[in-house]
Amino acid sequence: MHEFKYINNNLYCEKIKVKDLADKFGTPLYIYSYHTLVDHFYKLQSAFSGVDAVVCYSVKANSNLALLKALVDKGAGLDIVSGGELFRALKAGCPPEKIVYASVGKTNAEIEEAIKRGILFFNVESLPELENINRIAKKLNKITRAAIRINPDVEAKTHKFITTGKITNKFGIDLDNAYKILLLRKNFSHLKICGLHIHIGSQITQSAPFVAAVKKITDFIAHLKRIGITLEYLNIGGGLGIIYKNETPQTAQIYAKKILPFLRKSGLKIILEPGRFIVGNAGILVTKVLYLKDTPKKKFVIIDAGMNDLIRPALYDAYHMILPLQKRGVRLEKVDVVGPICESGDFLAKERKLPLVKEGEYLAVMSAGAYGFSMSSNYNSRRRLAELLVVKDQVFVIRKRESFDDLVRNEEVPSFLLGL
Ligand code: LLP
Repeated sequence: MHEFKYINNNLYCEKIKVKDLADKFGTPLYIYSYHTLVDHFYKLQSAFSGVDAVVCYSVKANSNLALLKALVDKGAGLDIVSGGELFRALKAGCPPEKIVYASVGKTNAEIEEAIKRGILFFNVESLPELENINRIAKKLNKITRAAIRINPDVEAKTHKFITTGKITNKFGIDLDNAYKILLLRKNFSHLKICGLHIHIGSQITQSAPFVAAVKKITDFIAHLKRIGITLEYLNIGGGLGIIYKNETPQTAQIYAKKILPFLRKSGLKIILEPGRFIVGNAGILVTKVLYLKDTPKKKFVIIDAGMNDLIRPALYDAYHMILPLQKRGVRLEKVDVVGPICESGDFLAKERKLPLVKEGEYLAVMSAGAYGFSMSSNYNSRRRLAELLVVKDQVFVIRKRESFDDLVRNEEVPSFLLGL
């Protein structure tokens, strides 16, 4: 469910006509619906209301401060993966005791800052990292907390680049080694191992992989309990898939129903780390058709958004629905929708049947809220886009379009090149 709908053949975001926003703010442009964002958060939160759970939104999916603040205000915690995300999380007003920190490569400076700020816990991905966090906590004379990220060796049945729970992936620690670490937990003088963490991948549409992973880890927790190792938290990660095309992902209710029996049995407090589920369908990318180009083999629709603005199609061959802002006749033609960037990988859709498109008209690239802006870049010296937040009939600029000066802000030409 989302708040992007046609009313009298015009696409609306909540109560505002998207075309009016494109005319006023220019394209390409990201537009988010506040109510879609918040509704998805509530859906998950209420599905897990039967257990002691905190939904820690995964900042990497879309890290705009306004969106973080909107979620934090509704009670969300945040899942972070870098010092930059910690900075954003705190700036958005997230209480440190609702922040969890994953990543296989945390630096000393990042670890130190997170300990000083008093985050809830680190999700730790290796023994050397555990030792390092312990060493830094000792230096700071603080006791800090960690959840061991388990690699459950479960197939997530998603794109190989976003599968994280197979034993050949770089993430987490296998069960045998995690067990050995837990037996030696007292060796970490300044670190309390307070929980376990799993995250098996992203855009997972079936429940079986989640159930398999959760079952494995809760069996492990039961075993630990029998031998006197008690924990406080189970972090079940993110990964819930959404509809991009015609997928039939689980609803929050069904997801919860499948795994809650295991979670209840564990008796632990639960952390969830959803990103895409919350923000994916809350955002669109609006773009303008620059040219229509016929070649002997193909018809290209050349738009003003490129792979630097939304890299998912180029990187994962991901499908994003493309809709005209003004709905009309049903005659379709097969086209490639491509951007202005100097690479053949710069496409948003291939061999796509679209209603006849005209030069100068706007198109909406749907489900672009997650991993859209947050993965965008300045490639080809393109300015990163403006982002708008729509709340019913109000619109807020939550990020200005970059200027040309922004592009070179941190660059310097050495004096010898200036002839000085
Ligand atoms: N927790 C951890 C430890 C993660 O690594 C991730 C995502 C999440 C939570 C949130 O996962 P979600 O609920 O959004 O599936 N750029 C890719 C997705 C990469 C996901 C990385 N990790 C894409 O555009 O599909």
